[in-house]
Amino acid sequence: MTSALIVLAAGKGTRMNSDLPKVLHPLGGAPMLHHALQAGASLEPEQTVVVTGFGADLVRKAAQDWDADIQTVEQAEQLGTGHAVQQAQAALAGFEGRAIVLYGDTPFVSPDTLARLIAANSDVTVLGFEAADPGRYGRLIVAENQLLKIVEYADASNEERAVTLCNSGVISCNATLLFDLLSRVTNDNAAGEFYLTDIIALARDAGHSTGVVTCLEAETLGINSRAQLAEAEAAFQAQARATAMENGVTLTAPDTVYFALDTFIGRDTVIEPNVVFGPGVTIESGATIKAFSHLEGAHVSRGATIGPYARLRPGAEISEAARIGNFVEVKNAQIETGAKVNHLSYVGDARVGAAANIGAGTITCNYDGVMKHHTDIGARAFIGSNTMLVAPVAIGDDAMTASGSVITSDVPDEALAIARARQEVKPGLATKLFEMLKSNRQKRDKGSS
Ligand code: UD1
Ligand code: CA
Repeated sequence: MTSALIVLAAGKGTRMNSDLPKVLHPLGGAPMLHHALQAGASLEPEQTVVVTGFGADLVRKAAQDWDADIQTVEQAEQLGTGHAVQQAQAALAGFEGRAIVLYGDTPFVSPDTLARLIAANSDVTVLGFEAADPGRYGRLIVAENQLLKIVEYADASNEERAVTLCNSGVISCNATLLFDLLSRVTNDNAAGEFYLTDIIALARDAGHSTGVVTCLEAETLGINSRAQLAEAEAAFQAQARATAMENGVTLTAPDTVYFALDTFIGRDTVIEPNVVFGPGVTIESGATIKAFSHLEGAHVSRGATIGPYARLRPGAEISEAARIGNFVEVKNAQIETGAKVNHLSYVGDARVGAAANIGAGTITCNYDGVMKHHTDIGARAFIGSNTMLVAPVAIGDDAMTASGSVITSDVPDEALAIARARQEVKPGLATKLFEMLKSNRQKRDKGSS
């Protein structure tokens, strides 16, 4: 049977105390919403509908950044989870498979759990969990292995509140049946809301089967506050570190390495302590990322070495066996096979040819205050220390620049460019100068006593 996802993301998230919609707060370098969408994508849904409300334009954009085919519908007023799901009805007109409801603020539901949920053979299946502290969660009321109903905390009797099997909010149900049941939900309850959870009792009254699939409580962690966001970040990082190590990556101090949702690292890469991966990083096998490096939007090829203390920014493309050393920043630049940028340099909007060597303190002066310009450095070129490459400029294959040069025009293949004042040497002048300075100091000291 085909699947469609309905992702609820209309809430403001009042307890976040933020102008940003809750589901857009970053977790592992990606909007929280992307985590739920990624888990849902494992079901290969035919359609995905995100229900927006607070900050609808921003949430729509974030959803479509994830996948341009995602549909969004706006719930103008947040009248409850049942009402929110109903907003997806028109978008799913004609869809006859199963609908799975996810929450945009519940990032950790695993693909494996979703697979078990849709494999269940009841007409309506709820994802439940045993709560250590059931708090205000909806309670799953089960008798003789049958899910009878879900009772919201505010509406529950003391006996019902004693139940520890809770509703995660994730539900799987044939779409036609779902919308049929929802059309019969009322807001006659403690919160005055249209509860999605009411469809269980309605389904049973109409003779449909209902069931529960359970998962670990950790998977159902919902984020309502900044404190919970920090907890979720810690949980995400712990998982990402464990996964990296399972995939054959060495982390010498795992607790100090931070990953993003889309970080990809190949086997036998070594990551030293205190490395941060922002969004969009891929590292191939056998690379080494040394301590205190920060990478985002970068690709590192086999056997390359980065850091310590390196910064790779978006568009950094580091080829095989290239070397980026300490206090080097690379942005939107291709560092070709075996090239070296070892110390204290900025390489932006550039190509550094294979086996070229960039001396310490080299800067590509890529920005004239208005526009960015390109620097091209040929294969095996040798850029002397403290060269300023004023872009646009091209250095040929096997060319050299003298240290301290300010290079403003192109250097042909195999040429040496020297662009600095010529050195003069004055014999004995240092001694004379020292004597003059000392006598000046004596005169000053006498004058002041
Ligand atoms: C809901 C469930 C409860 C469950 C809990 C799990 C209902 C009635 N209750 O309670 O059984 O234990 O989640 O966390 O379903 N939303 C909308 N539009 C709305 C209302 C909510 O999009 O009109 C979204 C929220 O942004 C949020 C999600 O739905 O992502 C859940 O809403 P929330 O108000 O947090 O539900 P709870 O009261 O926590
Ligand atoms: Ca909630």
